[in-house]
Amino acid sequence: MYILDVNLVHKSYSIYIKKGIIRDIGRKLRKIYKNEKIAVITDSNVEKIYGKNIEDNLKRNGFLIEKIVVKSGEESKSLEVLKYIYDRLLDFEINRGDLILTFGGGVVGDLGGFAASTLLRGIPYVQVPTSLLAQIDSSIGGKVAVNLSRGKNLVGSFYHPEAVFIDPVLLETLEKRFLYDGMAEVIKYGCIRDRKLFKNLLKYNTEKELFDNIEEIIYSCCSIKKEIVENDEKDKGERMLLNFGHTLGHAVEKYFKYEKYTHGEAVAIGMYNITRRSEEQGMTEKGTANLIKEILNKYYLPYKMPDMDKEEIIKTINLDKKNKGSEMNIVLLKKIGESYIKKIKKIDVKKYFY
Ligand SMILES: NC(=O)c1ccc[n+]([C@@H]2O[C@H](COP(=O)([O-])OP(=O)(O)OC[C@H]3O[C@@H](n4cnc5c(N)ncnc54)[C@H](O)[C@@H]3O)[C@@H](O)[C@H]2O)c1
Repeated sequence: MYILDVNLVHKSYSIYIKKGIIRDIGRKLRKIYKNEKIAVITDSNVEKIYGKNIEDNLKRNGFLIEKIVVKSGEESKSLEVLKYIYDRLLDFEINRGDLILTFGGGVVGDLGGFAASTLLRGIPYVQVPTSLLAQIDSSIGGKVAVNLSRGKNLVGSFYHPEAVFIDPVLLETLEKRFLYDGMAEVIKYGCIRDRKLFKNLLKYNTEKELFDNIEEIIYSCCSIKKEIVENDEKDKGERMLLNFGHTLGHAVEKYFKYEKYTHGEAVAIGMYNITRRSEEQGMTEKGTANLIKEILNKYYLPYKMPDMDKEEIIKTINLDKKNKGSEMNIVLLKKIGESYIKKIKKIDVKKYFY
């Protein structure tokens, strides 16, 4: 088992990564939680496959369970569903000594985590992420949120879990498009901080090889995120590195109304194209963009900039919520495994993105 301890100013907790850990979840929770009530928040897909097992497991260990199932998909990250969750939690007479367990992908983690952070001014929660994206990214770092009709993640907070339990075996039932969607973020970690991870990912030739190494891959990604979050918990500096490929990626996603590309696919396009531009300008080691293209091809991810109205893309990038005044920060690679933040003037945006 891999264990990572996240040490923050006001909180510390551990991330446990092990194939099959879910089968022992009740006993593991018993070690960190002494009371009885657990509200399990999950989505309809995960419930169908794992709902009964997890419920039985927790009950066997003496917990009193309330299961709250939301419809799968991004639409559930809404104020309406949040209100439904609050009501169900209050019906369960949950209090600040009880526990919420989020059991699902990033949607369930963000939504359930935000409910935990706000109801009764905060109820402890544990994350059991079930998608690749959630296991390497969204369950770590404490960002929780819901969407508004005007945009994604506009209402949220920083709220860290008591623990994160990651079972890579759960990924066996994940639809392929979500697996490769998550792989875009895995590749991102390789690009920004871990040349060895990147090289290994390039070496694997089959899905079996990927799965044989998945525990270590998840561990590598979580280690990078942990370190960055420890240095910059509130996203004021270094944490921005995690946004490599995301500024353009978000603009692409939005341009196609979140219908044509998944988040990972859009980030893939973002990573390749910003690197292509920075390489052309001598800021990135020659050959880096090509390596990114090669790895994206390998994991069925796109790299080509789609046909889009350039002015609209530039406008969206200029409106990015992370911008400050007339300047913005972008993330570039020196080479694979080394990244840096560059402050640019908004009027120069074109130079880097098109
Ligand atoms: N908080 C953060 O730091 C952070 C970071 C990145 C992304 N996010 C958020 O994460 C969300 C995306 O996460 P996601 O890609 O996990 O989406 P998701 O939660 O919608 O999961 C993807 C799909 O996979 C299904 N699924 C999950 N686990 C499964 C399993 N083991 N077997 C079978 N099916 C399974 C889900 O039901 C869903 O249909 C977005 O809302 C995004 O904003 C948050």
